[in-house]
Amino acid sequence: MVEEIRIRAAQQELNKLKQKVHEHEWRLQYHVAPIANWMNDPNGFCYFKGEYHLFYQHHPYVPKWDTMYWGHVKSKDLVNWEHLPPALAPGETYDKDGCFSGSAIEKDGKLYLMYTGNVWTGENYDEDLKQVQALAVSEDAVRFEKLEENPVISEAPKGEDIHPFHFRDPKVWKHEENYYCVLGSKTHDNIGQVLLYRSKDLLNWEFINIIAKGEGNFGYMWECPDLFELNDKDILIMSPQGVKPEGNLYQNLHQAGYVVGELDYVKGNLSYGEFELLDYGFDYYAPQTMLDNKDRRIVIAWMDMWESKMPTQEHGYSGAMTLPRVLELKNNKLITSPVKEIEQLRTNEVSYEQLKLINEMSLTDVEGDCIELDVTFKMKQPATFGVRLRVDDSLGEETVFTYYGQKGILEFDRNESGKGPGGVRKTKIMLEENKLHLRIFIDKSSIEVFINEGEQVMTGRIYPSINSNKISFFSDEEIEISELKKWELK
Ligand code: FRU
Repeated sequence: MVEEIRIRAAQQELNKLKQKVHEHEWRLQYHVAPIANWMNDPNGFCYFKGEYHLFYQHHPYVPKWDTMYWGHVKSKDLVNWEHLPPALAPGETYDKDGCFSGSAIEKDGKLYLMYTGNVWTGENYDEDLKQVQALAVSEDAVRFEKLEENPVISEAPKGEDIHPFHFRDPKVWKHEENYYCVLGSKTHDNIGQVLLYRSKDLLNWEFINIIAKGEGNFGYMWECPDLFELNDKDILIMSPQGVKPEGNLYQNLHQAGYVVGELDYVKGNLSYGEFELLDYGFDYYAPQTMLDNKDRRIVIAWMDMWESKMPTQEHGYSGAMTLPRVLELKNNKLITSPVKEIEQLRTNEVSYEQLKLINEMSLTDVEGDCIELDVTFKMKQPATFGVRLRVDDSLGEETVFTYYGQKGILEFDRNESGKGPGGVRKTKIMLEENKLHLRIFIDKSSIEVFINEGEQVMTGRIYPSINSNKISFFSDEEIEISELKKWELK
């Protein structure tokens, strides 16, 4: 009886919190975010029986990282998401301290989740841990049962330079007759690497090889690997921890990027080229991809960064996903665009053409905190120009994108963005025909900018005041805004 009262009281508290979060000024309107409490990595992103499912690292009771569950949302269109009960909760001997990241795969009409069971074996979270790989299964993709055979991979391979404990984040896929999975790992001396496994039945796994390993400045651990085929190439995505800044690159605590190569499935050798980032902003980590029924390779990532200030935590929630983005391969580089379905949110279109821009300009109907802005700048000669977003001049708040025409650098400055973390990120963008095209998605506390048809993306969380909604354009030389469109997103 006492226990029942306690559970009911906790449920009432959670309902109150959900309402508060729902109404909160920084709560995102068209991105996946938890209804309350904590979210990190996307997990188990898949298309199953006509619906997209997205799971995520979740704590349902506190707005901070702790013993991890898998949260769960589903959608028919990647835009409208329905929240479902957590799919996995920690509790078995092999996952009692967390159901860590993993992926999903359909087999015989059932949905399998493959995840890392985490157990702390001492006080030191970096060293005292035991990680294993486990499976859960569901017929309806709502209620999942952990398999009796768990763990299906109970220890890291021995006899190779593979750290025995840091061994996690299985991404599983099928190739010809076999299932494969990649796992994030590191060497005994803290060099990040990715392991490849093979299985006939998802239950018995055979280690094949270390398919990629960091050399030089490439981090001390690679988390959340993902391997998939695109245009006859094999793309390996990973999230290296601890890469040191190099000029404008690697300014975030951790990185997320990819290499393009060719995988020999028998030997487990991946020949690959240069590491490239998937996003050049502040908040992008642990991306995971899926192939949908339209043959699109879609990626979604955690739109935050470890150890970065998250001002929503004191309001009972934290963490969000990026927009789902389609990946295409052109000249061996990934091109990223928001899924087309997002356009169904567009209302109240405002459109301008051939505007002359010199000094500063704003337009009364171009503003907002939940909008898409599509703008093409055209320079005649090298100029320094850009756009100020989420502006309130009386408060001195603004988030600024500046293109330095002489240097060919685009800068994202959030030093005056409001209550969140500050900083500047810069990336080199070479212009064709002196044109810079920015497709900007603003949600209540986020900005995603797709540059020149998705050649690069810059993503960041910002926490402005509720009335910081103005937008202005600026340039030190006369340039043209050849096209400008704005939609509210509802
Ligand atoms: C990446 C990560 C994963 C791990 C999970 C735990 O952000 O550290 O390696 O499985 O988060 O929540």
